[in-house]
Amino acid sequence: MIRMRFFTEEDKGVMFRLAKAHEPFTEHVTPDMFLARIADQEGWIFEDDGQLVGYLTLSTFQPLHSALIHATIRPEYRGLWIGMSNLRAVFGHLFNGDCLDLEKVYAYAVVGETYPAAKLLDSLGFQREGLDRRGLKLVDGRVFDLVRYGMLREECPWIKPRSEIRQWLKARRTRVH
Ligand SMILES: CC(C)(COP(=O)(O)OP(=O)(O)OC[C@H]1O[C@@H](n2cnc3c(N)ncnc32)[C@H](O)[C@@H]1OP(=O)(O)O)[C@@H](O)C(=O)NCCC(=O)NCCS
Repeated sequence: MIRMRFFTEEDKGVMFRLAKAHEPFTEHVTPDMFLARIADQEGWIFEDDGQLVGYLTLSTFQPLHSALIHATIRPEYRGLWIGMSNLRAVFGHLFNGDCLDLEKVYAYAVVGETYPAAKLLDSLGFQREGLDRRGLKLVDGRVFDLVRYGMLREECPWIKPRSEIRQWLKARRTRVH
């Protein structure tokens, strides 16, 4: 059974190893770079029998109006709805939590490379907000466009009463893409 908990300093080493081994675009990332990147971030890890199978990081921006989220799941655990079910569960914390009361959450998907990321964000109810042309450049010179996805608090289905969530899911299933 997958368990989710806030990550701590002690988890960051194993999170780095997961990112390095399984996340695209991490060829040039060193442990120091990774630790610096997540130094001010909070978030959750997903564990299966104590083994790290994924994580979700959250970068908040002062004065706590918005946050950027990023999820990574170990490849053999992808497609099992771990991203979907665990991300759904964090929206209460993001939009209605004791600590966070955000207006907006956003995320990026790399064009042409991470179809699952785009699908996950779309399934969660994020809206496509725009194309960040050449938003990612790697040390070897390769450049990629990014799609920016955003969700406003009032658009978030997962903090609404169950009956409204059911309606939202039904409407999505019948929507013609
Ligand atoms: C993006 C990622 C976190 C998705 O996690 P996951 O647990 O595998 O996703 P889920 O199983 O919850 O699937 C969510 C949706 O994406 C779809 N999906 C998942 N993997 C897919 C794949 N390989 N191809 C097509 N669709 C896929 C699922 O069918 C589901 O859609 P549905 O709600 O219509 O059924 C995972 O693929 C990953 O770690 N990718 C590398 C890191 C990354 O790109 N992160 C950016 C995310 S912000």
